[in-house]
Amino acid sequence: MIVTIDGVAASGKSSVSSGVAQALGVPYVSSGLLYRAATLLGLEADLDLRGAPGLLKLLGTHPVRLEPLAGGNRVWQGERDLTDDLHSTRVDRGVSVVAALPEVREWVDAQLRALPEPFVAEGRDMGTNVFPHAPHKFYLTASARIRAERRARERPEDVPAIEADLQRRDELDTVQSAPAPDALVIDTGPLDLQGVIDTILTRLR
Ligand code: CDP
Repeated sequence: MIVTIDGVAASGKSSVSSGVAQALGVPYVSSGLLYRAATLLGLEADLDLRGAPGLLKLLGTHPVRLEPLAGGNRVWQGERDLTDDLHSTRVDRGVSVVAALPEVREWVDAQLRALPEPFVAEGRDMGTNVFPHAPHKFYLTASARIRAERRARERPEDVPAIEADLQRRDELDTVQSAPAPDALVIDTGPLDLQGVIDTILTRLR
């Protein structure tokens, strides 16, 4: 059984997915962390982020592994835990360019499809492209201002700067961010975290 939770940037996907996964007693899988890991490693190696061959070579020689846990995912490259470096503003700003590369998307999708079920999968295209046959699909939205206010608690920049970055990323991510036709779309604006989790759990039961 797979539950997919997709949505726009900073719509609360990770926290909601973690809460739903813990309630169901299964792991959740954060696909965005793999795009972020590819971006971080490309930046560290001083690669042009628009160039798939260089990135793929790097990812091939230094494999990256996603560890899905209910409480929070971790990403490893060999013995190095990359997780805490994946949410910098630098990675935020580069990740959509990397996520636009079809070869990188294939690299991410193959890792996700190899994971043992059951799990909650979170990202942009879990319900449309990666797990189209999942029986339960959700899509989270909220206005850019509300999302920026939430994310400002996790980043050093102020709300207007974060809002501008989110809108830029929304535009760059448009292609892979459409909700699946059979997804329940939830506007998280008026809801707190537990409210979103409860909406999903009620639907699942
Ligand atoms: O919540 P936020 O958008 O900040 O982070 P994320 O879910 O970790 O996604 C980071 C970036 O990865 C997105 O802006 C997309 O460019 C990309 N992404 C994607 O293209 N497809 C996915 N399934 C997940 C993430």
